[in-house]
Amino acid sequence: MNILDKIKQDLEKDLKKISLLKHENIQQTLRKPPQSSFGDLSTGICFKLAKKLKKSPNQIAEEISKKIKLSKKIPVSKFEAKDGYINFFFDYEKLSELTLKTILKQKEKYGSSKKKKEKIMIEFSQPNTNKPMHIGHARNTFLGDSLSNILEFSGYKITRANYLGDTGLHIAKVILMYKMFGKNKKPDIKPDHFIGNLYIKFEKEAKKNPDLTEEAKEILRRYEQEDKEIIKIWKKLREWALKGLNETYRRLKIKFDVDFFESEFEKEGKEYVKKLLEKKIAHKLKDGAVVADLEKYGLPSTIILRADGTALYHTKDLALGIKKFEKYKIDRSIYVVGSEQKMYLKQIFKMIELLGYKKANQCYHLPYGLVMLPEGKMSSRKGNAVLLDNMLNELKHLAYKKVEKNNPNLSAQEKNIISEKIAIGALKYALVKISPERNVLFNKKDVIKFEGNTGPYLQYSNVRINSILKKAKRWKQNLKNEKLTKQEKKLINKLIEFPIVVEKASSDYRPHYICNYIYELSTIFNEFYHACPVIKSEQKDFRLTLTKATGIVIENGLNLLGIEIPNKM
Ligand code: ARG
Repeated sequence: MNILDKIKQDLEKDLKKISLLKHENIQQTLRKPPQSSFGDLSTGICFKLAKKLKKSPNQIAEEISKKIKLSKKIPVSKFEAKDGYINFFFDYEKLSELTLKTILKQKEKYGSSKKKKEKIMIEFSQPNTNKPMHIGHARNTFLGDSLSNILEFSGYKITRANYLGDTGLHIAKVILMYKMFGKNKKPDIKPDHFIGNLYIKFEKEAKKNPDLTEEAKEILRRYEQEDKEIIKIWKKLREWALKGLNETYRRLKIKFDVDFFESEFEKEGKEYVKKLLEKKIAHKLKDGAVVADLEKYGLPSTIILRADGTALYHTKDLALGIKKFEKYKIDRSIYVVGSEQKMYLKQIFKMIELLGYKKANQCYHLPYGLVMLPEGKMSSRKGNAVLLDNMLNELKHLAYKKVEKNNPNLSAQEKNIISEKIAIGALKYALVKISPERNVLFNKKDVIKFEGNTGPYLQYSNVRINSILKKAKRWKQNLKNEKLTKQEKKLINKLIEFPIVVEKASSDYRPHYICNYIYELSTIFNEFYHACPVIKSEQKDFRLTLTKATGIVIENGLNLLGIEIPNKM
């Protein structure tokens, strides 16, 4: 339980000893008042009692406050009745002792919750195997990964799932180009980029020769009929694409527990289409295509099987959605997918429910917006998409220059390791810090800055904390300080918030709460550091303890975002 809830619980216990409050639920009414002059926690319970007792809230508050006796362990130094409320003021000396003790004891677990039984699968990233990932995939991947970390930290059993689009017309186009121009060549560049270039080539060639689209469709038909020649090329190209994609995941330190492939769900999907027909939830059109009738449920009807019997995106998603519950026995299923597929996923979830899967009501879509660049709109077909690998390299280059300037004596290898961590941290942070449904305006020169609301700034805050602790040499942990400054109080208050923020980020599926929080925490730490000398002070031991605790909390926050901390910057 977090510190604040524990205080509220203890307060309730003592307050319930007063007969008027014996049967009241007080804990929920204890809130942080809008002004610090009203204390640190305040209850409006007397307004509720006023109706029952036919007295004014003011009168009741006065009466009650005369009877309150708080046990010593509760970090409250005074309380008073005011305008019908009862306000409690923290005893910051005790509170700071309690907070620092908790953080230094729990360390990397501070902010986490007890193990829960519930199993959650989070599907994210989902690139197709016809090209390398672009910066939009990066946003999806980092959102999904940080959400997984946060939910795991909150005690859930998490399965991280990828769903790779390895069939469809986009793949057929690549196969066609390889047949026409590949000459059995092997990739001479990162293999997913090699595949991506074939895809761009198709779009260029198709402009000159519109028949190519028909030819690609023919390849898709042959693929579905399991034509040996096509399957052989399909396998080879798919392997190359996966090899390249996995290399990027490794670089980013992103891991999945399961990889699902679209190609695995075609047959099963068609079975579910049959079941929907049997249940009269879907009907066949004259040409043989199948339509699911969803209007009754307030959703647009939709085709779920093509006239020629081939599977659609929908067909496969039905089977995937059901498999997640059946085979993996999960209790909740989260899909990190772009906002433009909101309606589409509602249809899928509805069909899963209509097929009799009760847990369909535990399917959630986490939608997210676009990543916009100063250069304007991008498209992988035209070949002007900003590729994830390339962006990382550019950011690394910018980071390297800064690291070099700050630490001219480091070896090239050290500078390399540091710049890599900074580049990845900058990219992750910039894409996660924006609320998911909003578009991100991405500017590489801004996100790599060492100051402002950036990943590198937060990494730097931690690096500096570590160097303060190192420089201090001999000191011992001291949790107590009788005369806390206002900056110290503010910092303590912020440190207490972390577990509450984690809980909220996990229940709202909003990893950016963690970004906002650690940014504010770092800012408050800086204010403290500027106002209160640490090493050259009588409070040295206490202030170093406070500094250390802050470092732990920033690090825990960065961990949840998947951001590593370099040892120098
Ligand atoms: N690969 C798909 C795309 O490129 C995204 C898959 C989303 N997940 C799903 N279960 N439909 O749009």
